[in-house]
Amino acid sequence: MGHAYRAVGWNRQKRIYDTTLALGAGLCLALFMALTFAANPLVTAETLLIRAFAASAFALLHVILSIGPLCRLDARFLPLLYNRRHLGVAMFTLALAHGVLAFVQFHALGVISPLESLFTSDGGPGTIPFQPLGAAALAVLFLMAATSHDFWLRNLTPPTWKALHMAVYVAYALIVLHVAFGFLQANTSPYLLGATAAGALWLLGLHLVAAHRERAADRAEQASRAEWVDVGEVATIADGRARTVSVAGERVAIYRYGDKLSAISSVCRHQNGPLGEGRVVDGCVVCPWHGYQYRPQDGRSPEPFTERVPTFRVRVEGGRVLLDPRPLPPGTAVEPARIASAAAPRDERELYVGYMPQSPPRQARHTRAVVLALFAACLAVVAFVAIEQAPLGAGQFEYGVVREFRGVLASAPHPHLRVQRPGGGVSSYLLVAPGKHGADALVRDFDGRGVSLRGSLVHSGGRTMVELEPGSIALADISVSAPNVIELGRATLRGEIVDSKCHLGVMTPGERRTHRACAQLCIRGGIPPLFWVEDGAGGVQRLLLVGAGGEAVNERVLELVGLPLEIEGVVSQQDDWLVLSADPAGYRRIEKSEH
Ligand code: HEM
Ligand code: FES
Repeated sequence: MGHAYRAVGWNRQKRIYDTTLALGAGLCLALFMALTFAANPLVTAETLLIRAFAASAFALLHVILSIGPLCRLDARFLPLLYNRRHLGVAMFTLALAHGVLAFVQFHALGVISPLESLFTSDGGPGTIPFQPLGAAALAVLFLMAATSHDFWLRNLTPPTWKALHMAVYVAYALIVLHVAFGFLQANTSPYLLGATAAGALWLLGLHLVAAHRERAADRAEQASRAEWVDVGEVATIADGRARTVSVAGERVAIYRYGDKLSAISSVCRHQNGPLGEGRVVDGCVVCPWHGYQYRPQDGRSPEPFTERVPTFRVRVEGGRVLLDPRPLPPGTAVEPARIASAAAPRDERELYVGYMPQSPPRQARHTRAVVLALFAACLAVVAFVAIEQAPLGAGQFEYGVVREFRGVLASAPHPHLRVQRPGGGVSSYLLVAPGKHGADALVRDFDGRGVSLRGSLVHSGGRTMVELEPGSIALADISVSAPNVIELGRATLRGEIVDSKCHLGVMTPGERRTHRACAQLCIRGGIPPLFWVEDGAGGVQRLLLVGAGGEAVNERVLELVGLPLEIEGVVSQQDDWLVLSADPAGYRRIEKSEH
């Protein structure tokens, strides 16, 4: 408390709290990854981690935001409130891991800076970029985590600190929008939408019920505004406990201790905790939230602490308690009222403040049951998200496995290597550079030449690509048959433009809204765009997308990447690839339902 306040050090309860928290977070992460991996064995580690961290952080945020109103509704939840900061910092750490991994995965290694990509990709007519919303939420959570220590509480003063920490609701709203305009656009299970809405409604409902209860109590008390307010019978106040009333907008705790009665403000100087729900221990009122203490007769914290709360005059007449609702300056000594007789009722409620080494047995049982229920709820939510997410792509990237390939290199419309198949015919392997870059610069001197080169395979559904090892191309005495081009006629197709590298397996999933910014960056960097068409019966076609004259269209399609489109054009078979030739000016945006 005050300048002399030392944060409560580690004790047994604190260790139990943090161990439980670490265990819960670890279990959530492991469960999400296990379930996702079981259903999608080809999923990349980055996607597993990015999603597991996000789902766990979001579930934990719901727990954090539930604790405040639960405590206001039932004091037995208070042990969760003490150390709630640890929950906040743990949640921030999970969210930070998610944000940093997503930032690197989707925005690094491109032709523009990652920050520029984060804030400029994914825009365009009719789309709301969801990643800057996540970044804004992360910034708010960072501010709160960085100022969570009592050092900042002291320096910023409790009201400012409290106001700053109310920004958690802003962060929550930003995250809901981040999920709604991102993840839920790509994972269209109505149950996921329902679960996100249910989470928001649960929090809203809980806060409304808690606020309604408090307001109802305030209204009942404010009915009387006489100079001295009758606040009830003295005989109903238990020894060492308080009656909390609200008069003229002030919440006042009237404490009975021995044969005395004193009234102080019920609002703790630390974090506005309800002093009226505390208890007098060793002559001091103890705040139930974090244990700050105040003397009932003058509202001052015992030496060497310096906190002070307003005090009130109080008197007893005919067994009834009368209160003067005008607050006296914080720390003003007031002669306690004397209670002549009247036995005090017993109050069986236990006061337990988090720093006490041992929780009373009844309280401990309740806390254990609540923590188990929260554990189960978080695990269920995380498992549910893992099960309901859309299937992840089936592509594969042989990361770290370098092979040699031999064939004839062609650079238009995009670099590819034509490889003679042993049984006749030619396979065409698209060539790309490492990161989010096309291979145009790497193949420039080898157009039409027989070469050997090294690289790592990326492949999905019979479509193959090689990520070139820079500098590995060498001339070789190889020839293959001339390109086999068959025009198949005009067609109108519905699908989505994806970047071939991620979509064929470097990232799973490498499509839809959540991948849009990354796909834009890849296509801008020269990676060939594909038109990805689902036939509704589980069948998939991936066509190389080129302009009406067969030229590369990368710069002209950027705004339309990752969105449902209809394209009318000429389809042809070139070696083992289908190619769709169409002028980008004629691409048409369609609604998702038409896709
Ligand atoms: C720089 C900050 C952030 C970036 C770049 C970012 C990026 C992303 C991306 C790309 C996705 C889609 C991932 C996929 O579908 O594979 C996503 C999903 C998600 N993000 Fe973020 N995010 C950021 C911050 C946050 C924060 C602070 C939270 C808070 C908990 C959050 C919560 C979520 C959630 C809940 C999902 C849905 C995926 C899931 O539940 O597993 N994000 N984010
Ligand atoms: S609010 Fe923290 S001790 Fe009272």
